[in-house]
Amino acid sequence: MKLRTGPVGARIIGLGDYRPHRIVTNDEIAQNVATSDEWIRTRVGIARRHFAGEGESLIDMAVAAGGKALAASGLAPEDIDVVIVATCTPPSPIPGVSPTVADRLGVPSPGAFDVNAACAGFCYALSCAADAIRSGSAQRVLVIGAERLTDWVDPLDRGTCILFGDGAGAAVVVGSDTPAIGPVVWGSDGSKREAIMVPSRDTLMSMDGQSVFRWATTKLAPVVRQICEQSGVELSDIDVFVPHQANLRIIDSLVRALGLHHVAVGRDIVDTGNTSSASIPLALSRMLETGEAKSGDLTLALGFGAGLTFAGQLLICP
Ligand code: UT7
Repeated sequence: MKLRTGPVGARIIGLGDYRPHRIVTNDEIAQNVATSDEWIRTRVGIARRHFAGEGESLIDMAVAAGGKALAASGLAPEDIDVVIVATCTPPSPIPGVSPTVADRLGVPSPGAFDVNAACAGFCYALSCAADAIRSGSAQRVLVIGAERLTDWVDPLDRGTCILFGDGAGAAVVVGSDTPAIGPVVWGSDGSKREAIMVPSRDTLMSMDGQSVFRWATTKLAPVVRQICEQSGVELSDIDVFVPHQANLRIIDSLVRALGLHHVAVGRDIVDTGNTSSASIPLALSRMLETGEAKSGDLTLALGFGAGLTFAGQLLICP
């Protein structure tokens, strides 16, 4: 007996983004800690980031981005059968945020679950969505990366408060006759968990920035090569590179190491800061909006962060 499965491929048909209205400049950050606009721009590449307003929850942001992705896809909420939210900053651990996000969007009784793979979360969630579609477990999946990092970052710790912002990005994924989301390459190194962590429920984030920086600039270029190899494409075939927006120097170092000078590179960090699992869909949405990326472009997404987790895959731009 042959069991029926899903289509051979999956593809993104709509993206959505949400950046909170409050823009926080480096000068504003420098009012609270010993830093400067010049130091932050030079060492990290950030000029400004967005902070959620008081009373503006992670769920509000996820709903805003998810609604925009649905509108861009042309699908109705009732068409969605699974909702996945990637986040490491949920307002509370129980229940997960995805059932509430789905309910607020009007998606009737979907499969709904959260993914916490820190800043790699969106790529993990996208892979779950594509695999669920290809196996026949789902037909149309809404994937959201949403973070309210300001809840967990100490505004007086200059090692972290300069980096992080809030926001959400989303993608609608459906079945496809041709593969448009490649296999994920993913991994982690739990022995380095202390490099970025919230040690307990009463504490805020602590980070050993230098060791994360070293890890990212030495271990991730081979992962990018592996992503290409696994999908059967050459690095030179890539049109767009959207790495997690952690530090502009990490992004530029990856571009140099991989010789990706011919490629459009996501540098949304300048205006949006580091939004963890939201950073890749936010950056890609903006690139499509500005014309830096175009529909049909072969795009390599690469998430990495606490855990130390990483995940990446190739995808065709909607
Ligand atoms: O998505 C989550 C993943 N996280 C990351 O990817 C973070 C990766 N790491 C980084 O982005 C960088 O390590 C940081 C931006 C966090 C720090 O930059 P750095 O170039 O590695 O600085 P450092 O830690 O080596 O510190 C250099 C100097 C030190 O002063 P001394 O000891 O040389 O006098 C720090 O105390 O810079 C000082 N410093 C600052 N000065 C002004 C550290 N933070 C700041 C600051 N403003 N915000």
